[in-house]
Amino acid sequence: MSELSEIIADLRERARYYATLTDLGLPPREPAASPRGDAADPAAGLFDGGARLRAVREEVGDCRRCKLSRGRHSIVFGQGNPDARLMFIGEAPGAEEDEQGLAFVGRAGQLLTDIIEKGLRIPRRDVFIANVLMCRPPDNRNPEPDEILACQPFLEQKIDAIKPDVIVGLGKFAGQWLLKTAEPISRIRGRVGEYRGVKVVPTYHPAFLLRNPSAKKEVWEDMKLVRRLLAG
Ligand code: URA
Repeated sequence: MSELSEIIADLRERARYYATLTDLGLPPREPAASPRGDAADPAAGLFDGGARLRAVREEVGDCRRCKLSRGRHSIVFGQGNPDARLMFIGEAPGAEEDEQGLAFVGRAGQLLTDIIEKGLRIPRRDVFIANVLMCRPPDNRNPEPDEILACQPFLEQKIDAIKPDVIVGLGKFAGQWLLKTAEPISRIRGRVGEYRGVKVVPTYHPAFLLRNPSAKKEVWEDMKLVRRLLAG
């Protein structure tokens, strides 16, 4: 692509992004200061989460830091807008996520898409979605402490790279990990906490909602809270 068409594509992308925020009535996030202090290019450094995330992905490499690497098919790093104002963190990839290398693409993922697009009225591509673990635990068993510890530095780096305004922790593992608590998800959901300076709202995991549809009303309350925080 020529330099001019790259600039045009970049401007279109930014216009689309701002239009989404306007739709939501949300103030756009403040532009980050240019890392190069480049006065000739005031947009330099405006959306640089992508470069920071790529660096994190490179550091993950072909990760062998825990035993899950032996049975996995893919490392599910997470995907979405690297400059998202809203980030979702789930538990761990399931079979379809492991197969495709993408977070939340199975049945729970479809419900998560509805929560984001129909509930919050944000295009899914505008948020960032990741998990506490990047590799699938065998038979979808619960994450173990050594696995969470091995993945933790990378999740922290992703959060620092994206610098979202709000993180939604999906389910017990993400909610407890983000809020550093052992309280059950039924107690911590809908409360605003903080993780690395970012507001956190834990809510029920979409897989739980598939089994317990009546809990959707609580998730809807939690999403209204998320909207208020984003508008804040
Ligand atoms: N459940 C999760 O917690 N994460 C996924 O990516 C898929 C299902």
